Amino acid sequence: VSLFGVFVALLILHFLYSSFYSQETQEPPGPRPVPLFGNLFQMDLRRLNQSLFDLSKKYGPVFQVYFGSQKVVVLSGYRTVKQALVNHANEFGDREITPAFFDLTKGFGVVFSNGDLWKEMRRFALTTLRDFGMGKKRSEDIIVEECQYVINEFEQLEGKPFDNTKFFNYAATNIVSVLMFGKRFDYKDQVFRAMVERDNELIRLLGTASISVYNCFPWLGPFLKDWRDYIKHVKASREDVKQIIADMKETLDPEVCRCFVDAFLIRKKQLEESENSHFNDDNLLYSVINLIEAGNDTTATTLKWSLLYMAKYPHVQDRVQEELSRVVGSRQVQSEDRKNLPYTDAVIHETQRFADLVPLALPHTTCQDVTLQGYFIKKGTTVFPLLTSVLYDENEWESPHSFNPSHFLDDEGKFIRRDAFMPFSAGRRACLGEGLARMELFLVFTSLLQRFCFTPPPGVSGDEVDLTPVVGLTLSPRPQKLCAVQRN
Ligand code: HEM
Repeated sequence: VSLFGVFVALLILHFLYSSFYSQETQEPPGPRPVPLFGNLFQMDLRRLNQSLFDLSKKYGPVFQVYFGSQKVVVLSGYRTVKQALVNHANEFGDREITPAFFDLTKGFGVVFSNGDLWKEMRRFALTTLRDFGMGKKRSEDIIVEECQYVINEFEQLEGKPFDNTKFFNYAATNIVSVLMFGKRFDYKDQVFRAMVERDNELIRLLGTASISVYNCFPWLGPFLKDWRDYIKHVKASREDVKQIIADMKETLDPEVCRCFVDAFLIRKKQLEESENSHFNDDNLLYSVINLIEAGNDTTATTLKWSLLYMAKYPHVQDRVQEELSRVVGSRQVQSEDRKNLPYTDAVIHETQRFADLVPLALPHTTCQDVTLQGYFIKKGTTVFPLLTSVLYDENEWESPHSFNPSHFLDDEGKFIRRDAFMPFSAGRRACLGEGLARMELFLVFTSLLQRFCFTPPPGVSGDEVDLTPVVGLTLSPRPQKLCAVQRN
């Protein structure tokens, strides 16, 4: 009996151990990949966020797909994304530097870098942007001043239909440019226009199916037109910024720090003796490129969405304008006013939620082995935090698929924060420009709505305003015209 007892006990122990061990090493589920192509044929690369969201309904909140031979773990839903990026911030906190991202900044700078280099550049960018703007009165002044140029442009259109695309890109680029270089550019400046257009094109190309294919099979690059165009723009944009920095070096006065580039050059000089310093020309060039590119398309495109929503939902626009008139009147809106404008604040938040601007965030990679919800994810695995699944999470939002500012209002009409509001992502790699972007969105949106009513062109109804996004690295509206009709 005792031998039998020992045998049974061993059997139970073995069973418990193996089930525990297999749980610890169990990979996330996912569709079966085919050799060489992985799951490329089971996903629509032109609307990848939606494809992955659909797959998450079948495979659960942590699942894996193969892009060619590269395994990617997808995190879906607010609870899971938060658990990974916030509770396991360290393990999920590295950036995946795809071949296309490497082409852009060679592993330098603040967005597509890792380790001590990234830490030092991120800390420097955060504190310097704060010193030259974010959190201080000065950034508000820069935004308000830039806003006036956009208003002037809109006024000149005298209510005629126009495509608002370029003005917001010019304004957003100028705001970052003042922080980076201490100067803004005239909207008519051809070099500036070319620079902005190139940056937009870069973001567009990064979201194309060809660049996804290049990321899986880098040797295909030279055969792909999109990749050749991409490299052309990368080089041109690098030369532009190099030239501006070279000019600034000539006029640098260590006693007078005008902007980010000056602050970097001064720190570089102070650390010249130190061998391990990351304050070198490469990190300066690529951090500046990163910040200009990250700060342009994102904010500009969110503003474009906001006006389209106003044209499509005029009752929402009426309520924003009623609140602005009642609380602020015709004086310049200030950041301080936000707390007294709960409906307007809710509309801006709902715009960001509904627009789902950066649907896959930027790819992360695990810097060590980690177990999430019982699934083992090896060090060095690419991870997509699917922000679409957070901003449209049916467990978090009452009506995720409609534009509904009440998502951010309580029964008494007071503004409420929602944890699942994550357009800037979360954790260690969360957007570094969130403070600046939020201030920009608030001041530009309110200043415009104080002065203009946005409507579809004559003969086009609100229902016909097309909200189907063009899918790339960001989701942007299809080109379409609106009218900015001056209010009395
Ligand atoms: C990263 C969203 C504006 C600078 C990101 C990420 C998202 C995001 C989703 C990726 C986070 C992750 O990987 O988990 C947005 C949105 C914006 C905006 C929705 C506007 C509405 C800006 C602005 C700047 C900026 C104005 C700076 C001028 C950055 C930088 C990173 C980043 C530097 C990389 C952070 C890192 O890797 O450590 N942003 N962003 N962003 N953003 Fe933004």
